[in-house]
Amino acid sequence: MSTLILHATFFGQIVIATFQFWRLVNGVAMPHNLSSGFWMSNSFMSWVFKSLHFQGFPKNLALRNMVLLYKYNSSNIVSHEIGVPSPPPSPFSFPSYIHSLFLFTLPLLHNSSALRSILLFLFFFFYFMAPALEAQVPQDQESLPQSNNFLNSLNDATHRSKVTVIGSGNWGSVAAKLIASNTLRLRFFHDEVRMWVYEETLPSGEKLTDVINRTNENVKYLPGIKLGQNVVADPDLENAVRDSNMLVFVTPHQFVEGICKRLVGKIREDAEAISLVKGMEVKMEGPCMISTLISQQLGINCSVLMGANIANEIAVEKFSEATVGYRNNREVAERWVQLFYTPYFIVTAAQDVEGVELCGTLKNVVAIAAGFVDGLEMGNNTKAAIMRLGLREMKAFSKMLFPSVKDSTFFESCGVADLITTCLGGRNRKVSEAYARNGGKRSFDELEAEMLQGQKLQGVSTASEVYEVLSHRGWLELFPLFSTVHEICSGLLPPSAIVEYSEKLPRSF
Ligand SMILES: NC(=O)c1ccc[n+]([C@@H]2O[C@H](COP(=O)([O-])OP(=O)(O)OC[C@H]3O[C@@H](n4cnc5c(N)ncnc54)[C@H](O)[C@@H]3O)[C@@H](O)[C@H]2O)c1
Repeated sequence: MSTLILHATFFGQIVIATFQFWRLVNGVAMPHNLSSGFWMSNSFMSWVFKSLHFQGFPKNLALRNMVLLYKYNSSNIVSHEIGVPSPPPSPFSFPSYIHSLFLFTLPLLHNSSALRSILLFLFFFFYFMAPALEAQVPQDQESLPQSNNFLNSLNDATHRSKVTVIGSGNWGSVAAKLIASNTLRLRFFHDEVRMWVYEETLPSGEKLTDVINRTNENVKYLPGIKLGQNVVADPDLENAVRDSNMLVFVTPHQFVEGICKRLVGKIREDAEAISLVKGMEVKMEGPCMISTLISQQLGINCSVLMGANIANEIAVEKFSEATVGYRNNREVAERWVQLFYTPYFIVTAAQDVEGVELCGTLKNVVAIAAGFVDGLEMGNNTKAAIMRLGLREMKAFSKMLFPSVKDSTFFESCGVADLITTCLGGRNRKVSEAYARNGGKRSFDELEAEMLQGQKLQGVSTASEVYEVLSHRGWLELFPLFSTVHEICSGLLPPSAIVEYSEKLPRSF
């Protein structure tokens, strides 16, 4: 009988592991509050253990493996890697532990059929009752009311989430492509993805929107890449957002406020937003992050997505990573992760909106400095030094503005990885390299127009915004790299000044 149970559990584990793997690959939602990675690790490790047990491994080794498994699951390594944030401590998370412990323990209990029966009963009880128990867990008290509406609408099969991408530049078009591949595949999204296009007339005399809808390509900002048949370009902003409850903002930051003003009163009440926009607005009352601007203007929750993401590389499906920064509601973050996640675009979530957003914004200032170094042919050591000093100022500035910013955020894709890629290959670096090669004689505006064909530089305007914050708060001396970048960009200093400030380096951070 015990051999039968052993075989049955062994077989069951293979079925569960296969099922969980299928769900992970297809992005199908978990039935309850557990991540697929968590279940896969359970299933896989218990399978390994039972194989060992079959081969006569001693019980103390088996028990040691159980403890290891417990620790492994507690740290949620796998679920973190697939981008699903760790579940919060909840009494109802423990059925999963019970599940794995029983599956390990059962084969050891050859001698006690009574105990085995009790364990079997408890195992099936917890396994099948888990969804019901977890449904009773109270909603996160800090969640915004809109978020709860949002989740309710997601759970209703008749109200699939509808996505609008607001922006259609280089990154906006790639974002639409990523999203469109997922909305076709995942049942809780509408297939169609609307993409709002700031209408332009092409040299051929045709409207950009018409060409995108006819060729399925953004011939101006992402030529040669098919966006997906389910992407519909729409030049009418109001019409583009009308039915959508997931709004993806991805325009150059200087246009966001104007767009939001046009959207007031025009969006769904249960809408959620995510900002892929890098930059900030400086107002009389202080700096305002773009996600905050969207939240304040539209009265909706806004997450962010940032990372080491040069759009053209992701467009041709080269592997990269990104970070979703979210405020309170983990389930909303998971839904954004699912919307963007593909095998070549790995998305993880971090509960630190300001930290993630400031990383994405400030690294453009450091990239301008890296471009000066390249333009003056100062070499790799100098560039690495500039990147390190830049990262240090990014962290200090973020934490001085928002004490809640976490150190760990700087090690996510949005932090050090984005800094490296931007300083090696981004458009800010490219244009500032040209600026330095020309000895500062050609303006950034001129070089931007000539080199970027309609794409926008962010680093120069961000450096100016950061400078305004620094001078307003009396922090200029604490941030010599940031302030020098602005002074070079505005013609007050020559590009070579980028390495002439070392004696000014502060010792305080
Ligand atoms: N391109 C990248 O590799 C990349 C990667 C990550 C993040 N980002 C960020 O994404 C955001 C959008 O960048 P992008 O690369 O998609 O844009 P882009 O610079 O390629 O294109 C500019 C866009 O702005 C639009 N535009 C021009 N004038 C406008 C106006 N008055 N109002 C509204 N829109 C107007 C243009 O039509 C075009 O769609 C930026 O904040 C950028 O920093 C870009």
